[in-house]
Amino acid sequence: MSETSAKTYYVTTPIYYVNDAPHIGHAYTTLACDVVARFKRLDGYDVKFLTGTDEHGQKVEKSAQAAGVAPQAFTDRVSQNFRDLAVHMGFSNDDFIRTTEDRHKLACKEIWQRLFAAGEIYLGSYAGWYAVRDEAFYTEAELTDGPQGNKIAPSGAEVEWVEEPSYFFKLSAWQDKLLAFYDANPDFILPKTRRNEVISFVKGGLQDLSVSRTTFNWGVPVPDDDDHIMYVWLDALTNYITAVGFPETEEGGEYAKYWPADLHMVGKDILRFHAVYWPAFLMAAGLEPPKRVFAHGWWTNEGQKISKSLGNVIDPFDLVERYGLDQVRYFMLREVPFGNDGDFAHRAMVQRMNGELANDYGNLAQRVLSMVAKNCGGKVPTPGDFTPDDQALLGAARNLLPKLRELIDVQAFNEALEAIWVVIRAANGYVDAQAPWKLRKEDPDRMATVLYVLAECIRHLALMTQPFMPETSAKMLDQLSIGEEACGFEALDAGEGALIPGTALPKPEGVFPRFNEDEA
Ligand code: MSP
Repeated sequence: MSETSAKTYYVTTPIYYVNDAPHIGHAYTTLACDVVARFKRLDGYDVKFLTGTDEHGQKVEKSAQAAGVAPQAFTDRVSQNFRDLAVHMGFSNDDFIRTTEDRHKLACKEIWQRLFAAGEIYLGSYAGWYAVRDEAFYTEAELTDGPQGNKIAPSGAEVEWVEEPSYFFKLSAWQDKLLAFYDANPDFILPKTRRNEVISFVKGGLQDLSVSRTTFNWGVPVPDDDDHIMYVWLDALTNYITAVGFPETEEGGEYAKYWPADLHMVGKDILRFHAVYWPAFLMAAGLEPPKRVFAHGWWTNEGQKISKSLGNVIDPFDLVERYGLDQVRYFMLREVPFGNDGDFAHRAMVQRMNGELANDYGNLAQRVLSMVAKNCGGKVPTPGDFTPDDQALLGAARNLLPKLRELIDVQAFNEALEAIWVVIRAANGYVDAQAPWKLRKEDPDRMATVLYVLAECIRHLALMTQPFMPETSAKMLDQLSIGEEACGFEALDAGEGALIPGTALPKPEGVFPRFNEDEA
């Protein structure tokens, strides 16, 4: 594996605020990263997949106060909910970072010192609007009037007037360098529409950014000035380099191996922080910016905006309980072109679960494996010569991987699933056309060939659905007696991993149950 171990891939989720319980939005962002991480691992990459919690700042401090607990105890408790979510959703993260950890405070101090030493940070005073919910500063021009004559941020968050001494980052000096960077790296921000939004925001002019606060103290202290704590976004963004060992950047360490990150996955609401502030901070500190920031859309619930006040927050633990883990994973990535907003509707979920999973994919496997169990003595049948129809189906299955690689590299999950389903539908069409049940008496040798072709096609499908649906794919692979060692994508290539005629197969069982409204 020495050739492949050189390929590395570093993918990150945003770190989640611990003011709240995990909801569908958190599950969605991490799920998308999990699929990329699993895909890349199966494809021979050395992957680092990071998630974690954002534990400092005014918003978290306020939530702790409201809960009547000290911030540290509060964050310890809520952070655990996010770890539990990762286990519950089958997320394969390699690390879980908390911004209250010492390794992180060390990295924050170091990046601050580098910025300060480079003359990128100066002391001044801030007078302006701040939204605690977004932990963001807004200019007067960005605000609108709320119902009570109060000011509202573009995100809908309440803002308050803040006046305090503050350190500033010279963001205004980075406008041209950022524009040049976007220009030189056309795929740095995806989707393209978001990239255009960011570029026009930057072209509109950048103001220096307040990067410290003095009116509360739940944060990382500013080096050499105890009156200030670091602005929570500078602290939070730094997590991505903390986790690869920064300030240790020596050859042989994780920073040298994984940085710059291949992909920061974020929701559209936090793109500006990742695509403007973060590369500016990094370049100003003499560090390399990440390779890609992808901004995904937001979910609504049965057409309605999700909000605590409406009481329609979707709990990912409940979803998994109701529909099944892989069903939820499939739905979220299949339902909308990744990058667009999507609606979580029970009807749509059930349609996909019963139509695409139970009927198309589940039935294909179940029909074929039952015929093999009944008519081939429960062993992989021995094929004869392949006809052009056989070749066509095998070819379609074998040609999938290069297509999926391209699509996963631009985070087009729903198109990747559609490409897989094209082969599933072709396989179902082949079953109907070849009618192996008729061949049993008429031409048993041909039946054996047809069932072999189908079993081999299912092996390909099950290998390639692993990143999306790890549990059910593993069950399918078990039913084909494929050991763990033959589950990587290299088993797809040379034909060496192909099913060996005569291999005994376990008794087939359906893996995609239908959702039954009456029982539910
Ligand atoms: N702590 C910051 C991120 C710091 S990263 C250096 C933060 N945290 S968050 O918990 O508020 O949000 C995390 C993610 O959840 C964001 O990517 C956001 O877009 C996503 N979502 C929140 N609600 C959502 C939906 N209704 N739908 C989809 N994603 C949504 O921001």
